[in-house]
Amino acid sequence: MLADTNAIEITKTAQSRLDQVDWENLGFGKIFSDHMAYVEYRDGQWHTPVIKPYGPMNFSPAISALHYGQAIFEGLKAYKNEQGEVLIFRPEKNAERLNISAHRMCMPSLPVETFMDMLTQLINLDSGWIPKGEGESLYIRPHMFAIDEFVGVRPSETYLFVIFTCPVGKYYTSELKVKIETNYTRATKGGTGSAKAAGNYGASLFPTQIAKDAGFDQVLWTDSQTHEYFEESGTMNVMFLSGNKVMSPAISDSILDGITRNSVLQVAKDWGYEVEERKVSVAEIVELLKAKKLDGAFGVGTAATIAPIRIIHHNGTDYEITRDQSSDFAGRMNTYLDRLKRGLEEDKHHWNHKI
Ligand code: COI
Repeated sequence: MLADTNAIEITKTAQSRLDQVDWENLGFGKIFSDHMAYVEYRDGQWHTPVIKPYGPMNFSPAISALHYGQAIFEGLKAYKNEQGEVLIFRPEKNAERLNISAHRMCMPSLPVETFMDMLTQLINLDSGWIPKGEGESLYIRPHMFAIDEFVGVRPSETYLFVIFTCPVGKYYTSELKVKIETNYTRATKGGTGSAKAAGNYGASLFPTQIAKDAGFDQVLWTDSQTHEYFEESGTMNVMFLSGNKVMSPAISDSILDGITRNSVLQVAKDWGYEVEERKVSVAEIVELLKAKKLDGAFGVGTAATIAPIRIIHHNGTDYEITRDQSSDFAGRMNTYLDRLKRGLEEDKHHWNHKI
């Protein structure tokens, strides 16, 4: 419930930082646009949203998000078409998924209209921050966290929902070398793996660091009970390509229902690929690797879109993936989705939200 549906209170920055941006070296997630939007939940309702200059916020060290991890987030991107209009890719899906995560983490749901209103007004105000180069976009980071100043363990009674944005370039610049993880687990059955909960990412850092120290870029997560089935790739969903077949682990309570995953699978179907969403076993992928019949493996997420994997390590062996078809699929998919998001391809599934 929203207490007050008055217009968002907007305070514009006195001095834009746009002229300080090094557009040739955007990197990912280190440059922040002029404004941020936020709304507070207290007394059982959301209050009037605010947009103000981006900057630090004041918190007590006792807020519950810091201690008990009630913190969730989303990631989505905005682009400009050739007419200079702003297109946001499938934002309602993020609004819906935020509420799925909120439900799992015992947090309040946010009306989709409030999410969309805050998002569109913020992006309108900072539309000058949307980069126009190929593979570049304005990355949008909505997130919600618990702000009760209280040390006991119980669901917080107060929350903040905040959106800030970053002009970004590519998330990964080269193909990945990954290790199939058979010891640590990203998420378990009945856990929070299908929520975009901050803690899932925190828990992934240690195993990922071990893999990095051993020369890998990321890990391929497997199921917690048997480590025989793939779940995700690093911070992304995962897909495999063999001939005309695209295989991706079916969504479960330990796998995030990725919006880019959903989009890539739909486009693959549109292109005539056979798409299988099911349990994908380590054994069958290793067999395909040994027979040189695996034509591609990819991490798939909003930040990178589709990140090709070059080497998969399993039980002491590095398997290099036959390049031709895999680079075609990933390259073609990346180009197609990038063009679609910029309004350069027909938007037949109505994925672009124009503001
Ligand atoms: C994504 O791939 O979209 C992610 O969620 C990664 C993000 C944590 C940077």
